[in-house]
Amino acid sequence: TDQSLIRNFCIIAHIDHGKSTVADRILQLSGIVPEREMRDRFLDRMDIEQERGITIKSQAVRVPWTVDGTEYTLGMIDTPGHVDFTYEVSRALAACEGAVLLVDATQGIEAQTLSNLYMAIDHDLAIIPVLNKIDLPSAEPDKHAEELAGLIGCSPQEVLRVSGKTGEGIRDLLDQIVMDVPAPHGDPEAPARALIFDSVYDSYRGIVTYIRMEDGRLNSRERLHMMGIGMTHEPIEIGVISPDMTPTKALGAGEVGYVITGAKDVSQSKVGDTITSAARPATTALEGYRDPQPMVYSGLFPVDNAQFPELRDALDKLKLNDAALVYEPETSVALGFGFRCGFLGLLHMEIVVERLGREFGLDLISTAPNVTYQVTGEDGTVHHVTNPSEFPDGKIKAIVEPMVAADIITPKEFIGSVMELCQDHRGEMGTLEYLSPSRVEMHYRLPLAEIVFDFFDQLKSRTKGYASLDYHQDGEQRADLVKVDILIQGEKIDAFSAVVHRDKAYAYGVMMTKKLRELIPRQQFEIPLQAAIGAGSSPGRPSVRCARTCWPNATAATSPANASCSRSRRRARSA
Ligand code: GTP
Repeated sequence: TDQSLIRNFCIIAHIDHGKSTVADRILQLSGIVPEREMRDRFLDRMDIEQERGITIKSQAVRVPWTVDGTEYTLGMIDTPGHVDFTYEVSRALAACEGAVLLVDATQGIEAQTLSNLYMAIDHDLAIIPVLNKIDLPSAEPDKHAEELAGLIGCSPQEVLRVSGKTGEGIRDLLDQIVMDVPAPHGDPEAPARALIFDSVYDSYRGIVTYIRMEDGRLNSRERLHMMGIGMTHEPIEIGVISPDMTPTKALGAGEVGYVITGAKDVSQSKVGDTITSAARPATTALEGYRDPQPMVYSGLFPVDNAQFPELRDALDKLKLNDAALVYEPETSVALGFGFRCGFLGLLHMEIVVERLGREFGLDLISTAPNVTYQVTGEDGTVHHVTNPSEFPDGKIKAIVEPMVAADIITPKEFIGSVMELCQDHRGEMGTLEYLSPSRVEMHYRLPLAEIVFDFFDQLKSRTKGYASLDYHQDGEQRADLVKVDILIQGEKIDAFSAVVHRDKAYAYGVMMTKKLRELIPRQQFEIPLQAAIGAGSSPGRPSVRCARTCWPNATAATSPANASCSRSRRRARSA
């Protein structure tokens, strides 16, 4: 492919503003998906994505587009919108020269519109502002074009107007992409360098590696060298995705495609690594990706402990396709062998557990998620605690918790409710800016632990669904946190321990003991349930007590399966 005729771009937007739908119309107009094979959100290839109606994975696809008789090759990447998948977006941006910034014409600019725009600017991408959903009667294109133009620094006339539903304006958008997005600037004569931006494990073909060529050419008959891990492979197939995997003889500078080497060992491909030619290797690797920092941790345990090796294997394979997932083995007295996993947020955690179930047939128990804490003991040793059960016993000098900077966009009538919500969550207010006469952007600094759990749901309900939220890590602060242990028949159940703010410890204890009282089947003898507050095991420490008199033969009381409340509730109902 002639490098000057390549245009690589991604579609970025706030969640639900219509990226996948606009991508559908592009696929259709370009003619690469036959009418009878077209389905909604074509590029959301996973079942979970189709069922939930959200994009989880970025998808790259090549589409042809002709302007004035010249055929251009467009490399399009559809990206996810949810804040948990920002890392997916950042990797996609590194494979493009341009970004289509899509904004719902009925909603206007939202929190992830801004965060994605800033990321695209950081990557020096050409930005094409577009209003979508102009077919809706409630669309206010003039008003939002003004807003968007103000944000980007263009004139409102330059903001395109399209409908992903009817296809209106999509041709103009494609023409604009050809005009505004620069051709890739890699050196076609230099030794080959390709960036691995994603990969996936295919049970028949082994690892499929997605690459973006920077310089030179990679040939399907030539041995490949992975510069970071230092391995050499024979390629079995090289190709492009259009809309399915289509083999080609070679990939040249600027092209986006895939490589299959037949490797089945997951350690043989790493996202962010550079592929070069073994015969004529490049000397310096491309700049890879920074490993993302997990936001929340949770323990994952197979219901059937014999499945532990399968879980390890499944996590290794899933990690290929989800570079943000981290995990290390852990053991729990109550739950046996499992893994402590780090996630970018609760949605990410939910998706990982669901994918492990669907794609690998694993039935799992997850423990309550928590953030990480740095705990300094009396003797000055610092513990990095990702698991409440590792919280050091004995006296504690200081605890430090992670903080986030949050940006909340809301109609101005909800300013009061948002302030109240943030105060309840130990938030510290920063500045407040008006985006337009009716909408404001509020900045807060909050503890991560306060924001990852129910904050977003509460924000939505207090603002009738109108507010949007984006956040990123912002240092740490000292906090008055305590560990709460749950004891059943005097025995501490490690999987139920939690680290919470001192003011909320009592409420957590009451909530847990109450819940257990409902869940544990009746026995003929009394089962004491206790919650104990404070790290050490001092005899006089405060505790919440509650008892369950139950009948025999229901010994599930302390069985591992009860660690996940929703699961045991389901069981209780079916029993
Ligand atoms: P995520 O990838 O999950 O962030 O969502 P998305 O931005 O890809 O949005 P998606 O394409 O899934 O569209 C969200 C909803 O808006 C769907 O119900 C679409 O049918 C609808 N939608 C998208 N574009 C249009 C449009 O132009 N007009 C109308 N009326 N509805 C649209």
